[in-house]
Amino acid sequence: MKPSTITIDGPVASGKSTIGEMLARHLGYLYFDTGAMYRAVTWAALARGVPVEDEAAVTALARQLHIDITPPTADDGRQYTVLADGEDVTWAIRTPEVDAHVSVVSAYSGVRWAMVAQQRRIAQGRRVVMVGRDIGSVVLPDADLKLYLDATPEERARRRWLERRARGENVAYEEVLAMMWRRDEIDSHRTVSPLRIPDGALVIDTTGLSVEEVLARILQHLEETDP
Ligand code: DC
Repeated sequence: MKPSTITIDGPVASGKSTIGEMLARHLGYLYFDTGAMYRAVTWAALARGVPVEDEAAVTALARQLHIDITPPTADDGRQYTVLADGEDVTWAIRTPEVDAHVSVVSAYSGVRWAMVAQQRRIAQGRRVVMVGRDIGSVVLPDADLKLYLDATPEERARRRWLERRARGENVAYEEVLAMMWRRDEIDSHRTVSPLRIPDGALVIDTTGLSVEEVLARILQHLEETDP
């Protein structure tokens, strides 16, 4: 029997979203990237002038912000559409400014519990590939299959740097690497739901592997565990 709930966790640029989307498409499951929710809250705080260091204000915002993640509504390379109070913020949540503040926002416990409640509701009774940092450990600890993707910081910085350059940004590799270290540090050392390998997860080091190779490894694992 195929697993119906699959979680993928791992650090920044470990391949989670690319692999998650391919795996979901291959299996015909819903693909759900939870990072987009933390990004939407961060974007809303910046856009509405709520100071990101004000935990109470950001938490209040997270509780009342209506976030929707839907199948793509435009053919512009997006994996899905993100709506914040009905506004299409799919690309607005990918700016360097959101990148720079999202780790702080996602470390607030009130923000996390507001998001986790929504994530559990979305996964209920669905076949889903859910991607994030705490999905196998906190959000869906009873998932049928848990994956943890990793890669060296240099490899992950290189991927992010190439992505940003492809989008026309003039950014130095060293700057991307420094930002990566900073976000890894916050994501793994925060008190609430730090990034960690969930119990029972299949760990894949994606350094030097193509996306096809990673996907093949996961599908092979599914076949081997299929009774
Ligand atoms: O995967 P990403 O870069 O879009 O994630 C954005 C931020 O949100 C990142 O700093 C980690 C955080 N995050 C989280 O804390 N928990 C999740 N389930 C998903 C993302």
